[in-house]
Amino acid sequence: MGESLNGLKRTNMCGELRESNIGEKITVMGWVQRKRNLGGLIFVDLRDRTGILQIVFGEKINKEAFEKSDNVKSEYCIAATGTIVKRESPNTEIPTGMVEVKGEYIKIFSESQTPPIYIKENLDAAENIRLKYRYLDLRRPDMQRILMTRHKTAKVVRDFLDEEGFLEIETPMLGKSTPEGARDYLVPSRNYNGKFYALPQSPQLFKQLLMVSGYDRYFQIVKCFRDEDLRANRQPEFTQIDMELSFVEQDDVINLNERFIQRVFKKILNVDVKLPIERMPYKIAMEKYGSDKPDLRFGMEINDISEVVKNIDFKVFQSAIEAGGSVRAIKVPNSAKMGRKQIDKLVEFVKDYGAKGLVWIAYKEDGIKSSISKFLTEEDTKNILNKLEAVPGDLILVVADKNKVVFESLGALRVHMAKETGILDGNDEFRFVWVTEFPLLSYNEDEQRYQAEHHPFTAPMDEDIQYLESDPGRVRAKAYDIVLNGEELGGGSIRIHDTKLQERMFKVIGISQENAWEKFGYLLEAFKFGPPPHGGLAYGFDRMVMFLAKTDNIKDVIAFPKNQNAFCPLTEAPNVVDESQLKELGISIK
Ligand code: AMO
Repeated sequence: MGESLNGLKRTNMCGELRESNIGEKITVMGWVQRKRNLGGLIFVDLRDRTGILQIVFGEKINKEAFEKSDNVKSEYCIAATGTIVKRESPNTEIPTGMVEVKGEYIKIFSESQTPPIYIKENLDAAENIRLKYRYLDLRRPDMQRILMTRHKTAKVVRDFLDEEGFLEIETPMLGKSTPEGARDYLVPSRNYNGKFYALPQSPQLFKQLLMVSGYDRYFQIVKCFRDEDLRANRQPEFTQIDMELSFVEQDDVINLNERFIQRVFKKILNVDVKLPIERMPYKIAMEKYGSDKPDLRFGMEINDISEVVKNIDFKVFQSAIEAGGSVRAIKVPNSAKMGRKQIDKLVEFVKDYGAKGLVWIAYKEDGIKSSISKFLTEEDTKNILNKLEAVPGDLILVVADKNKVVFESLGALRVHMAKETGILDGNDEFRFVWVTEFPLLSYNEDEQRYQAEHHPFTAPMDEDIQYLESDPGRVRAKAYDIVLNGEELGGGSIRIHDTKLQERMFKVIGISQENAWEKFGYLLEAFKFGPPPHGGLAYGFDRMVMFLAKTDNIKDVIAFPKNQNAFCPLTEAPNVVDESQLKELGISIK
């Protein structure tokens, strides 16, 4: 066994054969899904990445092939030649199910051990086993479909951007730290012992340099590296669709990207995205949804009830309001019936977001129950329910605290309750929203200073530049995120191209001229040579494919991902290296 091709040519892929091929003599190659020996006939289901085809070997069809076919087992790699015939008992489950191949010849390229995971759809196996044997996991049809979707999406992206006059230009992987705010992956240098390259967190500064060079419209489907805590939609190395445009304002970037999104969803899913996509200022997103990536597929908006409760003799409410915070609530339909144990879990849930507690009011058919009933008069309760336009069946959940805590905890609780109540079950909507008017700066309590919310090259909104020094917290940025169903799909901004403004910006965030030059000197230097007005955006390509392939695990859309601990169970990276390699790098391990 272990035969070679010896001139044998594949004529067809397994999944493409239909009744129209009846009578044709074909050769297919692939892996044995299963073999059944029914005495005089041996059935082999052969699989390649296009699908499964049944081949029948029989003594009367071809004795030699029949006998040889009995040697094959699951996952053997083989070739088979034969004639397409109509199948006596069609299999309606598979697209090739109307036909089969009468096997006249078989070649066995290689044998296979029994695989440690089943090669089948919807496999329920431990993730580390799947990742360790990823090459087998990738044989599974659902994984192959996803990677084909990924390929197709990249092609649609390239075609669209090419039509729009973009050039795909590569930027270095070995570079200097980029200002995206996560931890860098570092690569030690052999030529310069003690010095390190940083793998790019994004091509941000290079794409801005390309604008200075006059490339006008740049894009790249590019690997980015960020050493951060991993989640269901985060990987340490991930891919961006990165773009930058010259001579544009925010609306130009948004308009182009709306057509881009429309094209991708039409071509891949045949879904019509209606334009224009809704826009929502950051402030509204926070106030109504407690999040800068609001999921607009359901209601349960956050309501400010401070006015209604400010005279209630309940200390938690009083002190929150007096300290400049607020009392806000969400209304969860059909949940007044929730049991105490379940509600207690919600109280624990909001504590993770810094809330000290959670007040609840259950508006039941047969009366009202509340965690603070002894503080509420009938009148108070009525006022709260009226303010929220509550109806019987509603469960009201209230948090009183600093606004930041109120928004974050209720925002998370809102999404949690949507899952708990199954409000989104069967919902196949794609609800996009642009979140705009982000704050330019945020206050770092620990360091007692303002810092750039996005990165320090993001331009302030023209009408807010006047407050840059006097009231930095109020300055909004020309920054925008594209959000889909509560996930951040991409984000970008218009950049500062005016040196004076850039200097003011650095000053406000407490970066000295010296420090700025040390970090980004090459960009500042470039900006001395006629930088054009420019701006751009980057999508998380993996996240986009997650939506298009309908999976909520980012690892599903990456051929060889890392596990939750940034480890590759297949190659066992990261790993130790030879002492001699370390020596060359001038590194000793403590
Ligand atoms: P930002 O940091 O918002 O912007 O990144 C753009 C998009 O990349 C995706 N993303 C990730 N996907 C998977 N795993 C990760 N660890 C991860 N981190 C980010 C998100 C995000 O919206 N240079 C700017 C863009 C610009 O201003 O033009 C940037 O990188 O979907």
